[in-house]
Amino acid sequence: MRIFLTGASGLVGAAVARAAAAAGHEVIGTVWRQTQVLVPGLARMEILDLTAAGAVAAALQAARPDVIVNCAAVSEPGACLADPAGAEAMNVRLPGQLAQSGLRLLHLSSEQVFAGDRTTPHAPADEPRPINLYGRQKLAGERAVLAAAPARTVVVRLPLLMGDSFNRQRSLHERLLLDWKAGRTARLFTDEFRQTCTAAGVAAVLLALLGRPGITGIRHWAGADLLSRHEIGCRVRAHFGLGERDAPIVAVTRADEPAAAATRPACLALAVEPLATELGLRPQPFTAQLAELTAPRAGRR
Ligand SMILES: NC(=O)c1ccc[n+]([C@@H]2O[C@H](COP(=O)([O-])OP(=O)(O)OC[C@H]3O[C@@H](n4cnc5c(N)ncnc54)[C@H](OP(=O)(O)O)[C@@H]3O)[C@@H](O)[C@H]2O)c1
Repeated sequence: MRIFLTGASGLVGAAVARAAAAAGHEVIGTVWRQTQVLVPGLARMEILDLTAAGAVAAALQAARPDVIVNCAAVSEPGACLADPAGAEAMNVRLPGQLAQSGLRLLHLSSEQVFAGDRTTPHAPADEPRPINLYGRQKLAGERAVLAAAPARTVVVRLPLLMGDSFNRQRSLHERLLLDWKAGRTARLFTDEFRQTCTAAGVAAVLLALLGRPGITGIRHWAGADLLSRHEIGCRVRAHFGLGERDAPIVAVTRADEPAAAATRPACLALAVEPLATELGLRPQPFTAQLAELTAPRAGRR
């Protein structure tokens, strides 16, 4: 298949490029600011501001793909607050435009569409109730794609992601390692829970979905274990053989930081059914996710 992959330089996009090329697909990928190095797996790399007028239509006309995989986004809550209009263009308008292309669309969304105020897993049909701007934009993006092309679109909501990223600065463990290297202490919540999975695991799900055009609507994917941010940090530290002196962690609770907690969902567990059964894939335990990680070295891609 010829895949039009937006956000090929991102954490998930780069994993998709690599996995799709290895599976024999032709991948035409877009990047925006990370232009220095060809993303491995891409047959062609387009440098493109996807928010520019006419950019999407022109790129799709040139690429003539069979399918679109949308991994481009403003994917951090803080970046959405810093530039709400720019983030809206990426998180809401762009998905809507891609859905209007007439092509099969695999679109990514986030656990942050939920308030996270319960400990039981959220099912795809549960009522979303975002408590921050990023979550509201991701929900609006979901609604835009499903309104435009309900019979051609699948939306996969994802949890906090692990895995080695293309620029080696993007992923959870890479940020922790960079903080520690810079002499900073990680302040991690003991009462905020996430069900991480890896970008490579997401890529495997998306590749399987390429062969399943009948799967449409909203699905969830996540790892097997629901862990506190504090436990995640401690296990990353242990995985890299670091101690308290080189990699300091301070345990904090949501009550210690009420202003931050107000816009951070406390517990985001995702039910991976029906997708796990539909695709015959199993969520990965956290230990197996850790085993895939490598430590970033300066200047390495
Ligand atoms: N990371 C997570 O923990 C997480 C969790 C749940 C859901 N998700 C969702 O999963 C998807 C992928 O996230 P990710 O973490 O892989 O994102 P990411 O690493 O932040 O990558 C974002 C991608 O979007 C591109 N991009 C940003 N602005 C652009 C613009 N104006 N024009 C063209 N391209 C632009 C970036 O290009 P350049 O880098 O080249 O500028 C990059 O390739 C998103 O939908 C996100 O909401 C992510």
